Amino acid sequence: MNVALRCDKITMKFGGLTAVNEFSVDVPEKEIYGLIGPNGAGKTTVFNMITGNLQPTSGVVYFKDTPLTGLKPYKIVSLGMARTFQNIRLFTNLSVLENVLTGFHHKLQYNIINTVLRTPRFSKNEKLMKEMAMELLERVNLREHADFKASELPYGDRRKVEIARALATGPKLLLLDEPAAGMNPQETLDLMYFIEEIREKFDLTIFLIEHDMKFVMNLCRRISVLDHGVKIAEGAPEDIQKNPDVIRAYLGDIDA
Ligand SMILES: Nc1ncnc2c1ncn2[C@@H]1O[C@H](COP(=O)(O)OP(=O)(O)O)[C@@H](O)[C@H]1O
Ligand SMILES: [Mg+2]
Repeated sequence: MNVALRCDKITMKFGGLTAVNEFSVDVPEKEIYGLIGPNGAGKTTVFNMITGNLQPTSGVVYFKDTPLTGLKPYKIVSLGMARTFQNIRLFTNLSVLENVLTGFHHKLQYNIINTVLRTPRFSKNEKLMKEMAMELLERVNLREHADFKASELPYGDRRKVEIARALATGPKLLLLDEPAAGMNPQETLDLMYFIEEIREKFDLTIFLIEHDMKFVMNLCRRISVLDHGVKIAEGAPEDIQKNPDVIRAYLGDIDA
C-alpha cells in the first residue's frame, strides 16, 4: 500500500485543553478515507494540523514522504494538497468563474512580478488561466453556471464550486471538512456521486470529515473514529457501524 498522507501521533493542545491526543492515521493513495466523530471530537483540528493552519504541539504529518513540520499553508498547497472548509468559503459577489480563478492564482502567486508589471506574458497567463478554469468547470459539470454569482447558486452547487476552486490548485490530496453539512437528502446524494466522480477524473486521494454516518459509510473504504480527541476505532464501514465504543460515543451526541 502506498501512503498518501501519514499522521504520526499528532497532538494539539489549546492551553489546558487537549483537542487532539496522539492521533495517527495512514491514508492510502487513491482512496476515499473518512474521519468521523461527535461534535467537538477534534476532527477539524486534525485537518488544520495537516494543512498547516495549526502547528501540532507534538507529532509529525507526512505528505507522501515529506514531513510538513513548520511549513505554511500556501507552501503545503503548492506541494499538492487542497481543502474545503466546514463553512463554505466563497467570494459571494464574484462569479463562479472568478472564484475558480482564485484557485489558479494561488498556484501562480510566486509570479507576482508579472501581475505588477502587467506584461504581455501576464495577459497571456490570464487568458490561459481562464481557459483552464472553464475546462475545469466543464469537467465538474458547472460550465453553464460560470457567469453566475456564487451567491445565486443553490447551496449544493456552491459546495461544488468550492471544491472546483480547490481542484484548480492541482491537488493530489483533497481534504473535505463536512462537505454534506446543511444539505438536503437529494443534494447529499448528488454530492456523493460528485465526489466519487472527481476522485476518478482527477486521480485524487480524498480524506473527508463527515458528521452524516450514511454519507461516510457509502463513500469510504476505511474510517477512523475520533472521540474527545482520541482515536477510538478504525476499520471498514460495516465494522465501525457495529463497534460498541463507536455506538457509545455517538449516543452522547444529540446531532447524530
Ligand atoms: N483555535 C482554537 N482555540 C481553542 N480551542 C479550539 C480551537 N479550535 C478548536 N478548539 C476546541 O477543540 C475542540 C475540538 O474542536 P474541533 O476540532 O473543531 O471539533 P470537530 O471538528 O470534531 O467538531 C473543541 O473543544 C473546540 O472548542
Ligand atoms: Mg469540525
